[in-house]
Amino acid sequence: MAVHTSPARNLLTNSIIPVLLILCAALSFGLTFAPCYSSLCVEKFWPYQARIHIALYYTLLASIALFLAARVVSKPVRQWSSTHLSTAIVPLVGKRLSVGGLLLFVWVAAFTFGSIGYWYPAENSYWTARGEKANWPQYMYRITWTGVTGHWCDILMGLVILPVGRQSILGQVFGLHVSTLLFAHKVLAYSLCIAALVHGLIYYSFVAAWVSIVSTNIMYQFIPDNPTLTWREAGVKGPYSWFTLPTGAISGIVLIPIMVITSLPVLRRINYNTFYYIHVVFATAVIVLVSLHASTSFYFLLPGLILWLADWAWRVRNALGRKVEVRVQNAGNGWYRITLPAKEAELEKGDSAANMEATPDPLSTYYVNMPSVSRLQIHPFTAAAIGHSSSPPVLLFQKGPERKKAKQRDREWTWKLGALVDVNKEEAAPIPYPKARFEGPYTPKVPDLYAADHILAVVGGTGITGALCIANWWAAKYSSLPAQTKSFRLVWTIRDRATAQVEEVQQLQALMRGAANMEFHVHVSSSEGRLDAEEEVRGFVGPKEGARQGRVWVYVSGPEGLLAGVETACVKEEKELSRGERSGGMVSGLEWYVARWSL
Ligand SMILES: Cc1cc2nc3c(=O)[nH]c(=O)nc-3n(C[C@H](O)[C@H](O)[C@H](O)COP(=O)(O)OP(=O)(O)OC[C@H]3O[C@@H](n4cnc5c(N)ncnc54)[C@H](O)[C@@H]3O)c2cc1C
Ligand SMILES: NC(=O)c1ccc[n+]([C@@H]2O[C@H](COP(=O)([O-])OP(=O)(O)OC[C@H]3O[C@@H](n4cnc5c(N)ncnc54)[C@H](OP(=O)(O)O)[C@@H]3O)[C@@H](O)[C@H]2O)c1
Repeated sequence: MAVHTSPARNLLTNSIIPVLLILCAALSFGLTFAPCYSSLCVEKFWPYQARIHIALYYTLLASIALFLAARVVSKPVRQWSSTHLSTAIVPLVGKRLSVGGLLLFVWVAAFTFGSIGYWYPAENSYWTARGEKANWPQYMYRITWTGVTGHWCDILMGLVILPVGRQSILGQVFGLHVSTLLFAHKVLAYSLCIAALVHGLIYYSFVAAWVSIVSTNIMYQFIPDNPTLTWREAGVKGPYSWFTLPTGAISGIVLIPIMVITSLPVLRRINYNTFYYIHVVFATAVIVLVSLHASTSFYFLLPGLILWLADWAWRVRNALGRKVEVRVQNAGNGWYRITLPAKEAELEKGDSAANMEATPDPLSTYYVNMPSVSRLQIHPFTAAAIGHSSSPPVLLFQKGPERKKAKQRDREWTWKLGALVDVNKEEAAPIPYPKARFEGPYTPKVPDLYAADHILAVVGGTGITGALCIANWWAAKYSSLPAQTKSFRLVWTIRDRATAQVEEVQQLQALMRGAANMEFHVHVSSSEGRLDAEEEVRGFVGPKEGARQGRVWVYVSGPEGLLAGVETACVKEEKELSRGERSGGMVSGLEWYVARWSL
């Protein structure tokens, strides 16, 4: 997406969410009157509550969408919602709590647990009547709560798939970073696991009571595979109506735990591709199974499902479905360069010729699949140079982390590709790779970048790639202006000085030497010790002679510790600025962007 997207395209993108919500809500309501294909058709037993449940779920989605839209259009709302309640990181969660995050959490919890208000009375009277009919009322509270907790799962299940998707509509419309969306996905997924566990355990306690009874009369009144039916009714309806328990059990006992375990950071980082494919394949299976399990699951999954399928269709149509020629090169000193075709960079945007000349976003990510290295793996890289009509986008990468076993390490994608290129090192010639698929550019919406007067980029190691792009983009626009009004400082921490010997860096350094308002500082940690992130941020934002005037934007990319250090420093500085403790300074606002790669 270019910076200057056409108004028609903006309007189209922005109307997707309201149109989707209205259509899905209408469809869900409509389906409650149509023939039902789930094993347990909730609306047949509790039509009124099922429709209230749908109405409240779509109210929840609409209210979240309105809140996120308010963040986009109103800067005070955005600032208020991203205010951190404390500089401390919440243990386990690994994030700082923001006002907006807390509010969303409480809001979702209110709708989820609030559903007890309409489900408990309905389920209770239904199951009490069933229990009395069987002359077995004492265990009916267990099945009542099974139903109630099942409806918590409806809500969490519907929400959990909304934030996923490579070209996430939520990300584009509401300017949310991929890591924020995936964080929401993780919190919802863990909550769903707990709710599903509670739901399953309560039902298990009911089945245990049913198994222990000796009266065949009571047993005939409930079939464990679908307790809404008696044995006689189940016989008439056929085996399809018995799927409620098996579908729930397969999803809850087999698939969801495997998805959760393989996604735990410790395993995900060791074998990302196992995690990714298990997640995609099992998620598809779970969606089918829970839709068979109970009808409300499907009604709640609808919007997320449509977004997910649209995302896949977009990916296949725009990238995965065609191969293009890219060039891979050993760029020296541990660096490798992938040059994407210039024409492709423009064409894949699907824009008109006029739009082609628009300034591309300086922050973009491409995903690359090279069948000659691996058929299935798709690896993300931040563009080190943005492509436009005359120059192609460039990706720079280094080999991934060392492994204990050399054999295992050599199978890793970056190592395998690096080794292929290293063979031709003597000739220093670029290797053409005739067959590669690439997705992108995926561009986060970062309005603060465009509004900033002064930019500080603190990057570590391979994190330089995004900063190169931003610096070149910024130089083209502002390098001739006085440093008091516009300035750019790039601090790059690297282990060895040799790492800085790469063409793209040297070109930028040469460009910056000619610009009075741009600085490039290389910090070599092996000889100078660890970079003090707090000092860097404070030094840039804090008051000093010839102080900066206007808004500051900080970009950080690098190892996890560096990201955390810079973010903490920004939170502290921002708090001091908002409390007016920086009276000597001229900085009127501070925003920051953490380019997190560990998804
Ligand atoms: C948004 C983003 C931008 C990136 N930009 C750059 C860049 O500009 N330059 C650069 O050198 N590196 C970049 N990386 C890192 C690069 O993608 C990984 O180094 C590469 O995928 C490692 O693959 P591997 O199989 O060789 O290593 P592995 O040893 O398998 O993995 C090393 C690390 O990369 C993660 N990883 C592996 N495969 C993937 C994948 N398909 N998707 C996401 N993460 C994965 C693993 O979880 C692990 O933490 C970026 C990563 C992300 C998410
Ligand atoms: N945006 C991102 O999320 C991002 C960007 C780049 C890399 N990474 C990830 O980080 C890992 C290592 O990447 P790499 O090999 O490129 O980097 P690296 O060579 O391990 O480190 C680069 C520099 O960052 C410094 N650094 C590390 N932690 C720091 C901290 N807490 N405070 C200040 N400086 C710190 C290092 O200093 P010391 O020598 O003192 O450690 C070094 O100078 C990889 O897993 C990579 O994927 C993530």
